[in-house]
Amino acid sequence: MGYSEVYKSWQDDPEAFWMDQANAIDWVKPPSRALNADNAPLYEWFTDAQVNACYNAVDRHVENGRADQTAIIYDSPITGKKGTTSFAELQTQTASLAGALRDQGIVSGDRVIIYMPMVPEALVAMLACARIGAVHSVVFGGFAANELAVRIDDATPKAIIAASCGVEPGRVVAYKPLLDGAIDLATHKPHFTVILQRNEGPCDLIAGRDHDWHDVQDGVTPADCVPVSGDHPAYILYTSGTTGAPKGVVRPTAGHLVALQWTMKSIYNVDPGDVFWAASDVGWVVGHSYICYGPLITGNTTVVFEGKPVGTPDAGTFWRVIEEHNVRSFFTAPTAFRAIKREDPKGKLIKNYDISCLRALYLAGERADPDTIEWAQKIMGVPVYDHWWQTETGYTIAGNPAGIEALPVKIGSPTVAMPGYDVQILDDGGHQMPAGELGAIAIKLPLPPGTLPTLWNAEERFKKSYLNTFPGYYETGDAGMIDEDGYLYIMARTDDVINVAGHRLSTGAMEEVLAGHPDVAECAVIGVGDTLKGQLPLGLVCTNNGTQKSDADIEAECIKLVREKIGPVAAFKLVTVVNRLPKTRSGKILRGTMVNIADSKPYKMPATIDDPVILDEIKAALVPMGYAKE
Ligand code: COA
Ligand code: AMP
Repeated sequence: MGYSEVYKSWQDDPEAFWMDQANAIDWVKPPSRALNADNAPLYEWFTDAQVNACYNAVDRHVENGRADQTAIIYDSPITGKKGTTSFAELQTQTASLAGALRDQGIVSGDRVIIYMPMVPEALVAMLACARIGAVHSVVFGGFAANELAVRIDDATPKAIIAASCGVEPGRVVAYKPLLDGAIDLATHKPHFTVILQRNEGPCDLIAGRDHDWHDVQDGVTPADCVPVSGDHPAYILYTSGTTGAPKGVVRPTAGHLVALQWTMKSIYNVDPGDVFWAASDVGWVVGHSYICYGPLITGNTTVVFEGKPVGTPDAGTFWRVIEEHNVRSFFTAPTAFRAIKREDPKGKLIKNYDISCLRALYLAGERADPDTIEWAQKIMGVPVYDHWWQTETGYTIAGNPAGIEALPVKIGSPTVAMPGYDVQILDDGGHQMPAGELGAIAIKLPLPPGTLPTLWNAEERFKKSYLNTFPGYYETGDAGMIDEDGYLYIMARTDDVINVAGHRLSTGAMEEVLAGHPDVAECAVIGVGDTLKGQLPLGLVCTNNGTQKSDADIEAECIKLVREKIGPVAAFKLVTVVNRLPKTRSGKILRGTMVNIADSKPYKMPATIDDPVILDEIKAALVPMGYAKE
């Protein structure tokens, strides 16, 4: 069957389609039906099944002849360390850590926050939680204590598993002071922590609260896999929304297993035993779906890469990893390729490596610009597939189903909707737009298995954020169009979310931080175009009358504040003091107009603007920063 037939088979009978895919999962009790629409427009899948995610990712492979196959390759060009973990070893490690967590009082449904860098133990921690039905919530290492505290208060974890440090090129990031600071800041206090000491930066432990990773496992009885119901949350992953409060995306266990397994062959075209590499971080959804669960569920070998595309040690690192570990399919964000292209525009370094093992490159996380795709195709000599999805969905909404049928690539388009997704372009009134016309991208409900059924402890926010604007649809927050051939084009976000180096960030959250500066009267943060990171946040602040400090001091303090409150990942380094912000007569700040000015794009003078002269002032402030050029 080609793509059209597969898509049609899903359209004709979605439930039969997903029940069929469910056969690839090992159930404790198989589902009797796929969709549960009892609570529509909130939908769930495989609710009456009993299953365990860790069993499907680890134990079943040990039982089915893959015990000695490598499950995880660890490659850390930053520390110079490498290692492998077989499925049998992974089973021993997860069962042991799970046993320790259980002995410390963790039971099914308890939340466990994981704050770890790219080391194999991060996967062991996730799987150990899954083994006993604990709901993990991984927090990216580049977030500051305050962000971690917000997540602690929302998820109310009984335990936190962390490493003593992360390693960034040229610096060790001490995680323990961030963790201690977060626990101090948070209202909710975890009962205990488990700390993985790393040689690169060991830390002190607080007696009675912090347990050493190894000591806590001493002499424990390994834990068996605990069956959970199909709708049991596998994890919560926080992602940026419009406000400073992140959204806790809930991932349901059974749908997640079924859908990820389906994607590994249909989209990434790998078979059990193949090496699959997603160069991302366990703190992001790509890390959850395609460093940890997807490849392991399918019996692939996954690569945990603790490095950067450039500078660790050079722009040839990706090629080295592909060759050395025999990578079949490779997934990363376009920004990584822009970084490599900037360092090695002629692709000289790739000539030192044999990457003939590689079948295709997959890009996602941000818009893939045509230059980058063409360059990657040229130097790598493999197809480059852009695909579009979100934390909320957990896997591809639109992509090129290379394992079913490789469709012709149209550069600039992530190709077509995958089975499970009826993607439509709507106007403001919720009417479908004709082919080729721009509108809001929405998905007809129900969303397929594995996608978010709700937000953690925030059902009303879930409805407000995703369901209320277009009744009967899920609102993606992206705008774009579909062409005559059904190819989708993603053009922009419709909200205040920006995408910096493939990282999803909220300008609203940064504004909340800046507004907290005692000398800031009001502010706006906008996403401006950047040739490396896609977008960068840029802050415009108005100071209080009579402030004694210089503009330069306030700007420096603003940068420091965002780094302290949100973290280095915000990459907030551009800020300028201005006299006034442009607004509509009703007081709405004209952020979109300022983005166009900064990016030197044409813009229409908003009819409702209060005072057009302010736009000239903004332009004058942006020019010295290297923006708003003619
Ligand atoms: N822990 C602590 N700090 C971290 C971190 C982590 N896990 N990850 C990033 N940071 C820090 C960086 O050190 C940097 O700090 P600095 O301001 O002191 O330099 C800051 O956060 C910004 O990081 P980043 O945006 O990643 O920029 P960079 O300049 O370090 O690297 C790229 C730029 C393009 C090489 C890098 O972003 C990259 O490899 N991107 C790949 C894309 C990706 O993984 N996307 C994930 C979704 S698929
Ligand atoms: P995240 O939840 O961090 O994965 O970010 C999801 C958002 O990133 C999407 O809603 C898009 O705005 C953007 N995005 C992800 N993949 C693509 C893509 N292939 N093309 C364009 N934008 C993308």
